[in-house]
Amino acid sequence: MGTRRKISIVVLTGAGVSADSGLATFRGAGGLWEGQRVEDVATPAAWIRDPARVWRFYQLRRARLLEVRPNAAHEALVRLERAASDAGGGFTLVTQNVDGLHQAAGSRVLAMHGDLRHLRCTRCESVLLDLERLDPADFATCAACGHRPLRPDVVWFGEVPRHLDEIGRALGRCTHFVSVGTSGVVYPAAGLLAAARARGAETWVNSLDEPWNLDPADRFLPGRAVDVLPRAVQAWIEEWL
Ligand code: OAD
Repeated sequence: MGTRRKISIVVLTGAGVSADSGLATFRGAGGLWEGQRVEDVATPAAWIRDPARVWRFYQLRRARLLEVRPNAAHEALVRLERAASDAGGGFTLVTQNVDGLHQAAGSRVLAMHGDLRHLRCTRCESVLLDLERLDPADFATCAACGHRPLRPDVVWFGEVPRHLDEIGRALGRCTHFVSVGTSGVVYPAAGLLAAARARGAETWVNSLDEPWNLDPADRFLPGRAVDVLPRAVQAWIEEWL
């Protein structure tokens, strides 16, 4: 046995990884937040004030999920996970995305911001996978307790992201950190890159534009994730594993 340290990879993805599957990102021209205030559709207060508006916003996004498929970037991350596992290394994929595309590609994923494919009852906390009730004008009712309306099972601004303990443990072991397709403005996800760097991990960042949290110590790989990741993953497998 050599003295080589154990490789432990953490990947964080954002909306950019799904852009080439046909899903809009949030910020910038044509983004989901263009002409839409976060406070009006993505907060608990908005749900109380105007549930019909919030429901409509998410139902339109939920319906889009039936039309999209994982792309070459999602698939490349599956290869990285398998190669890490075969080599006895660690691999954790964290996503801010709620589109289920990493899962559809075959990745195990920690979905920090929840899952748009699921609806949740705020009374009995039942969660159900549902991409059938997609009417933007008709609320869904809980089959278990009859409560209405069910809410999308996503994390809104002001709510606590999921899996923070497991993400913290993965960062504590992290030797290689990769950020893909995220603008680095929404915390706590945006802080993971700096936390990995502070821990001594080597860091790579793929995005179209330089994200807000980019540091000179990070290796920036500009371009579309579908172009950049398949080649980068191949190189990482050869170099790290
Ligand atoms: P953003 O829309 O803020 O950022 C998307 C990033 O992806 C930008 O840095 C783009 O340059 C990059 N990008 C676009 N197309 C790309 C492509 N084909 N390949 C690679 N990169 C590409 O999306 P997020 O950072 O994911 O939270 O947004 C973070 C959170 O803000 C979301 O999870 C959501 C949102 O408000 C909640 O709703 C709680």
